Amino acid sequence: MNTNRREFLKGTAWMGFTAAMAGSASAVAATKLCGAGAMTTYADKPIKKVRVGVAGLGMRGPGAVHRLAAIPGVEVAALCDLFQERVDAQQNFLAQNGKPAARSYVGPEAYKAMCESDLDLVYIVTPWAMHTPIALYAMEHGKHAAIEVPAAMTLEQCWALVETSERTGRHCMQLENCCYGEVEMFTLNIARQGRLGELVHGEGAYIHDLRELNYLDPAKGGYQDYWRLRWNTEHFGNPYPTHGLLPIMQAMGVNRGDCFDYLTCVSTNQIGMDAYAKIKFGEDSWQAKLHPKCGDMSTTVMHTVKGRTIMVQHDVTSARPYSRINLLSGTMGCLNDYPFRIALAEKPGDGAHGWLDQQKAGEVFAQYRHPLWKVAGELAKKMGGHGGMDFLMDLRLCYCLQNGLPLDMDVYDLAASCAVCELSERSALNRGNSVDVPDFTRGGWKTAKPLGIETVDLDKLGLTDVKADDAQLNV
Ligand SMILES: NC(=O)c1ccc[n+]([C@@H]2O[C@H](COP(=O)([O-])OP(=O)(O)OC[C@H]3O[C@@H](n4cnc5c(N)ncnc54)[C@H](O)[C@@H]3O)[C@@H](O)[C@H]2O)c1
Repeated sequence: MNTNRREFLKGTAWMGFTAAMAGSASAVAATKLCGAGAMTTYADKPIKKVRVGVAGLGMRGPGAVHRLAAIPGVEVAALCDLFQERVDAQQNFLAQNGKPAARSYVGPEAYKAMCESDLDLVYIVTPWAMHTPIALYAMEHGKHAAIEVPAAMTLEQCWALVETSERTGRHCMQLENCCYGEVEMFTLNIARQGRLGELVHGEGAYIHDLRELNYLDPAKGGYQDYWRLRWNTEHFGNPYPTHGLLPIMQAMGVNRGDCFDYLTCVSTNQIGMDAYAKIKFGEDSWQAKLHPKCGDMSTTVMHTVKGRTIMVQHDVTSARPYSRINLLSGTMGCLNDYPFRIALAEKPGDGAHGWLDQQKAGEVFAQYRHPLWKVAGELAKKMGGHGGMDFLMDLRLCYCLQNGLPLDMDVYDLAASCAVCELSERSALNRGNSVDVPDFTRGGWKTAKPLGIETVDLDKLGLTDVKADDAQLNV
């Protein structure tokens, strides 16, 4: 395994960084490392009232504003977007819900003034290319950063976030909501209790037919300036690996007892986008002539230092039902999702040749339900947002900040999962040859403890109820 940062970056010139990404370089130049893995157990002083600035108020951002505003001891103190009307809409929401007005920031560089202002946390929900530049600027100005997925698109960005977080002592968390899904948290709990035996292999995915959304006119509610279509036009491999990957990393203790070593990725050609565009927009349309590069299905296999594997797939262009696969298998059992099923050996050495029937599976699910879901799952489901996991993610993040606790996901988890974006592309462009995955903890994984089974104290938070919220996304 290659643990040298410079060696990794040597091979990246071919990527062609955009101007938006250039911000990361200056941050790296000033870096003085605090030490390998220093942020894994990092806890800042408790913040009684967490003042949050939210950047990016398109499809996803408003739901975040509403969730954060519902958490006691959290103030949405700043709102930022390219469009005045999107900021105004969230100001209206705050006013209608009896919350203080936030400061407004409008324009492509307005996030800078927001990051310079009086805030504790900058919460970033912009298109991918702006994630890292805004997070770096926030940390450089003393703010914790929480970044939507994938938080970084290149190795350069992954390293910049790691090094800046370590140097500034600011949290840098990727907002991987799927780590808070009911099945994923059950999986983490049953794995930690040892019921699956020794963990050997996992499978995750982002399989979600986004063809309609990718081509939807931004003026009619599509992605701002077609940012996702643009990325898929220019890149190959897996640009969106973290939903399937990070929950399995947590269960297996990647970066905390184990570490990625190398990966390999193969991809189909792109067939689905062209076929869709021709039918929907006509042979002569710009959409039909675009020919995005990104293959329909990419399959990445990650290999760890301890000899375990995780497969991660990406397919947003095929006619098939949504799936994150969520498979975890060990020496005493296996489970997967869509629909949920589980097979368990009675005792070590026994086989588990059939899935448990629905009743028995339900009993096991109840027995190993994650404590966070027991405590706050019903409130989270009531509010909505991917079945409740979005709210639980924000709740834990704010609870940890308020109580001075380490966060569930640190900057190394962010970097190791996001490194797949560039590395899968490099491997897939080279006939699936393996590429090393950097150890962003620089050896810290050898002594770091796996993530525990963590929850929140609703009484301490003063949270008794939430309102159902129609700004929450459900797919
Ligand atoms: N975790 C999840 O389940 C989930 C779901 C959906 C989207 N996402 C992520 O959320 C992010 C946003 O996705 P979306 O669907 O809301 O996209 P979108 O295009 O609908 O919204 C992006 C918003 O960011 C704003 N923006 C662009 N540049 C900006 C800048 N420089 N400063 C401030 N604002 C800026 C745009 O004006 C737009 O309002 C993406 O990273 C996406 O991957 C995550």
